[in-house]
Amino acid sequence: MDQTDQTTHFGFRDVPLGEKQTLVNDVFHSVAQRYDLMNDLMSAGLHRVWKDIMINTLNPPKSDAPFALLDVAGGTGDISFRAARKAGAGFHATVCDINGDMLEVGRQRALKQYLEDKVSFVEGNAEKLAFPDRSFDAYTIAFGIRNVPQIELALAEAYRVLKHGGRFLCLEFSTVEVPGLDKLYDLFSFNVIPQLGRAVTGDAESYRYLVESIRQFPRPNAFAEMISAAGFSRVSWQTLSGGIVALHSGWRL
Ligand SMILES: C[S@@+](CC[C@H](N)C(=O)[O-])C[C@H]1O[C@@H](n2cnc3c(N)ncnc32)[C@H](O)[C@@H]1O
Repeated sequence: MDQTDQTTHFGFRDVPLGEKQTLVNDVFHSVAQRYDLMNDLMSAGLHRVWKDIMINTLNPPKSDAPFALLDVAGGTGDISFRAARKAGAGFHATVCDINGDMLEVGRQRALKQYLEDKVSFVEGNAEKLAFPDRSFDAYTIAFGIRNVPQIELALAEAYRVLKHGGRFLCLEFSTVEVPGLDKLYDLFSFNVIPQLGRAVTGDAESYRYLVESIRQFPRPNAFAEMISAAGFSRVSWQTLSGGIVALHSGWRL
């Protein structure tokens, strides 16, 4: 089967594989300017806690030792900024994202936070990274991988660009399995979030996609198997906030 025959999910819709990225790009072009505000509103600020847990797990060196982070689907730079503030003088982050509008918001934020020397921004596709083999100490991807049409390709690229001993960390929405919380979460996701999206960004559809895409993403154990299949060792994960989010880890050893 060639790529033109294959289909994939765009939220709850089946779409040709080759079309998903364009649809995803439209979503993030539409919401870029209000993306950070919407994150705070949708999660009541919880996304900050989840991101801090990711950075604490990454634990970048506080010394002068060089440490290169690649933050893929890094959008407006949240993960890289948090890591840069925690790390020592040898730290540098590269935010790579397919969407120029998200990156532009990130560049402006870097300037405001005086982090422009610590964080750089590069347009690129997670499925085909324009970086040499074994060039990074760590690879992070936060709330990004479920938007990538071919997740296996992104994982293979993550493995390729990491140095031996390098760490892969993925923060992503997951599956709520706490009785009671699951119903509440569904109600909130399908009713409140698209309406909030309409009020804040004028775009309910993009937020409907974001909610639906969460439901299509593999469960934590299945995703861990995909990470192992890409070659990573010591793959593990922890769920946060009753399973709303999962943090997966793997090492290139
Ligand atoms: C929900 S945002 C996450 C941004 C940021 N990591 C954060 O946690 O706030 C998802 C990002 O994935 C990016 N993205 C989608 N498909 C991509 C791809 N194939 N390669 C790189 N980035 C992609 C989008 O442009 C968007 O900026």
